[in-house]
Order: sequence, then structure tokens, then C-alpha cells
Amino acid sequence: MGKIMASVYDIVMYPFEKLFLTQKRRLLLKQASGHVLDIGSGTGVNFPFFNPETTTVYAIEPDQAMREKANQKSVPDYIHIEATGAEAIPVPDDTFDTVVSTLVFCSIDKPEQVFNEIKRVLKPGGQLYFIEHIRATSPSIQSIQDTLTPMWKQVADGCHLNRPTDQLIEQHFTIIKKAYYFKKIVTVIIAENTEIDT
Ligand SMILES: C[S@@+](CC[C@H](N)C(=O)[O-])C[C@H]1O[C@@H](n2cnc3c(N)ncnc32)[C@H](O)[C@@H]1O
Repeated sequence: MGKIMASVYDIVMYPFEKLFLTQKRRLLLKQASGHVLDIGSGTGVNFPFFNPETTTVYAIEPDQAMREKANQKSVPDYIHIEATGAEAIPVPDDTFDTVVSTLVFCSIDKPEQVFNEIKRVLKPGGQLYFIEHIRATSPSIQSIQDTLTPMWKQVADGCHLNRPTDQLIEQHFTIIKKAYYFKKIVTVIIAENTEIDT
């Protein structure tokens, strides 16, 4: 992300937090339990929503400036931030009870590899909590997303507006709950790590 993006991230996101995100983070993350992996934890926006009584959190964030920004907010000691990406998470198989990914898969380079890595580190029956903007179902909105994405990737650090991440999740996990918002360009998903017959 870099220093500029890290320094403006919370300010730029403020209207979206007020409109939608904070409420969804609160509702979703209070359900997280046990040992939790927070992928691409950024400036630590999810941290206030984890329950210190029922969770320990292993947050991973490859970007130094984002980690520094999170640490400026004084991270409680049940949350540990590790400097790594999600392609190869330095923990054994079946480590986590819950995996959280909020607004990360839009900019991950190799989503397929990361989904496989999540399946490796998430215990069988463990849950994935997910908030993401995705490729719309409406052809006219898809066309706008496709047009804007090459430029948007440059200004927003590789963020794709047109990635069908919800479909990728369905290929790897069993969907427990799924909701769509804003003309189906935002989704909130709870999924489970079960073997899927193919
Ligand atoms: C848009 S921010 C989202 C931050 C936070 N999760 C939130 O909900 O606001 C995306 C974050 O994902 C991180 N990221 C990008 N590629 C990643 C990867 N391969 N593995 C883990 N994190 C990654 C970025 O450094 C950035 O902090």
C-alpha cells in the first residue's frame, strides 16, 4: 500500500464505515471465536470488534506502513500482527477456528492460492467471515466495473472492482449465510471449511 495510502486509509474509508461497514463488521465479528486469523488486517479496523473474552487474534499484514498505522492505535495483547502475506502463512495446518477477510481479496494477486492456504490453516468445520466488493450481476454495472478497473488498480494499490470473489468462495467453502448489498456489488458471507464433492 505504501505510506500515503496507509496514512489516508481510515479517512478515505470513513464515509463507507458510517454508511455500512462498521455495522457489518460489528455484527459479523462478534460471532468470531477461538483462534482467529485476520487476513490483510491493514490499519487494524477490525480489531475493536473482536471479543477479548472469546478470541485470540493472529493478524497478518504484508505492508509495513499499514502495520505501523495499526500499531499506533495500541494493539491489545490478545492480538498479534505478523508481517506476512496470505499466500504462505507461517503456521501449521488446522491452526485457526475462524478466518476473517474484509476488503482484501479485491487486491490479492493470487486469490486461488490464498483460498487453498486458508483451507490449510482453518480447522475442518472452521468458519470464514467475509466482507468484499465484487463483480456485479448486472451487465451494465459489470461494464462500468470493467472500464474502471485498469485505472482503479493504479490508484488503489491493485484493487479490482470486477472480481467475482463470491463465486470463488463457493468453489472452496460451504456457504452458511450470504447477503448482497448496493446492487449486488458488496457481499457479506459466512462460510464453512468442509470438503466439497466435485
Ligand atoms: C483495502 S485494505 C483492507 C484492510 C482491512 N482488512 C479492512 O477491512 O479495512 C487491503 C489490505 O490487504 C493487504 N494485502 C494485500 N495483499 C495481501 C496479501 N497477499 N496477503 C495479505 N494481505 C494483503 C493490504 O496490504 C491492505 O492492508
